[in-house]
Amino acid sequence: MRTDDLVALARGAARGAYAPYSSFRVGSVVVGFDGEIFTGANVENAAYPIGTCAEANAVNNAVAQGVRRIETVVVACIDAETADGAYPCGGCRQTMSEFGVERVIVTAGDDSEVREHRFDELLPHNFGPKDLPGR
Ligand code: THU
Repeated sequence: MRTDDLVALARGAARGAYAPYSSFRVGSVVVGFDGEIFTGANVENAAYPIGTCAEANAVNNAVAQGVRRIETVVVACIDAETADGAYPCGGCRQTMSEFGVERVIVTAGDDSEVREHRFDELLPHNFGPKDLPGR
């Protein structure tokens, strides 16, 4: 799928967010190495720490369907003012590192710039399965 289409899909996924506490809707698209596509959105909870991020939900959807290697994660924070405020949190970066993500696309709403990064720009020296003895 082209980058424009992935971004549109992620922005659309953000519309499904449940974010009554932050009013900060985030959508995510995961592309597996065989081109499979999965989406996710953030889901908040009255017990705040139980809420989940869009990227984590999208990655977990992919993994639950058998994906083990992820090529691209797209993050669209449609309520962020600019792409600067739309970067994935540290926890989501670690979740991505588990599945070998290579590319991360970051954007805000419809008029926002779209930024493309190599994963290691976002989480250099990451700790992953390769760092555990015997794996
Ligand atoms: N959020 C995400 O979905 N992804 C991120 O990487 C950053 C933050 C969500 C969590 C919460 O529902 C809202 O954005 C405000 O933090």
